[in-house]
Amino acid sequence: MARRSVIAGVGGYLPKRIVTNDELSRTIATTDEWIQERTGIKQRHIAGPTETCAFMGARAAAAALAHAGAGTEEVDAVILATATPDQAFPASALRVQAELGITRGFGFDVSAACSGFIYALAMADAVVRTGQATGVLVIGSEVYSRIMNWADRGTCVLFGDGAGAAFVRPGTDRDGARGILSTHLHAQGTLGDLLYVDGAVGRPDRSGQLVMNGREVFRHAVAKLAAVVDEALAANGLGHADIDWLVPHQANRRIIDAMGRKLDLPSEQVVVTVDRHANTSAASVPLALAEACGDGRIKRGDLVVMEALGGGMTWGSALVRF
Ligand code: COA
Repeated sequence: MARRSVIAGVGGYLPKRIVTNDELSRTIATTDEWIQERTGIKQRHIAGPTETCAFMGARAAAAALAHAGAGTEEVDAVILATATPDQAFPASALRVQAELGITRGFGFDVSAACSGFIYALAMADAVVRTGQATGVLVIGSEVYSRIMNWADRGTCVLFGDGAGAAFVRPGTDRDGARGILSTHLHAQGTLGDLLYVDGAVGRPDRSGQLVMNGREVFRHAVAKLAAVVDEALAANGLGHADIDWLVPHQANRRIIDAMGRKLDLPSEQVVVTVDRHANTSAASVPLALAEACGDGRIKRGDLVVMEALGGGMTWGSALVRF
């Protein structure tokens, strides 16, 4: 049988500080009612000075290893998705590797904005299937609070900070049907100006802040996410009724609800964290996974579909038997 990769554990980390909508309404022209009605967001976690991309990523990774019952000696690859690395290089993945005391294997960062975790999971699946790695930490870690224009009420209310991680290893006979069934990635660079960060270390003349055309992103999100989930199901000969859990990217409650309706899923089968975490970009899917596995909702054998869409434009899905 072809080698299959398994998600053996998941974990998350959220900054200590919580900022409510009411708190934001003291500095910008917004209200708790507007934010909740348009997005479902009630609060977000905001990183303190020491809660960096690598710091949070390492803690989420350690939690994923503990959940899997695995030690750092089992890790031979670290793949970290972020749009907010601490440095241009070394890759934040390697800062995490160093912090966890891992001294073998390889690591790199993935830049795919909010789709970053799905992209990183696809890379982990590929290196495990081809035998290049036998224990992969897949991490999404983001500090969007550092790239926000805090005077732009159309964007700064939407995002939060945090990290999530999964530990991926080859399946064994004891895993049965468990594993990553397939991943599906897409990108369309011609849509890059709908959602972007204006500058980086190579363009210090720019603001370095996030810019978004919210309406257009919303329009693309529902259509593209529904299509990429159906693509994943079709590739495996499965239908909507086979899904146990939808773990969507947590950008906006209205997008999540629209996805649930398109997939004929009752809301009880959709994992939602956007109300408490806001949009944590590449961290949102693994944070939601960690919550739903941690509280016992997602059980062994469940079929889980994950999806995400973000700046690039990038989008993708993963179908996983837990
Ligand atoms: N508080 C109060 N009013 C706000 C506001 C805020 N935080 N943000 C925008 N507004 C105002 C606008 O200025 C506008 O006012 P105007 O009509 O007087 O000009 C009005 O609300 C409507 O703005 P609009 O941008 O058209 O609202 P919307 O219904 O499209 O909702 C988003 C805005 C951002 C919530 C919505 O477009 C969205 O969620 N898009 C997807 C974003 C996303 O998910 N991005 C991440 C993808 S990874």
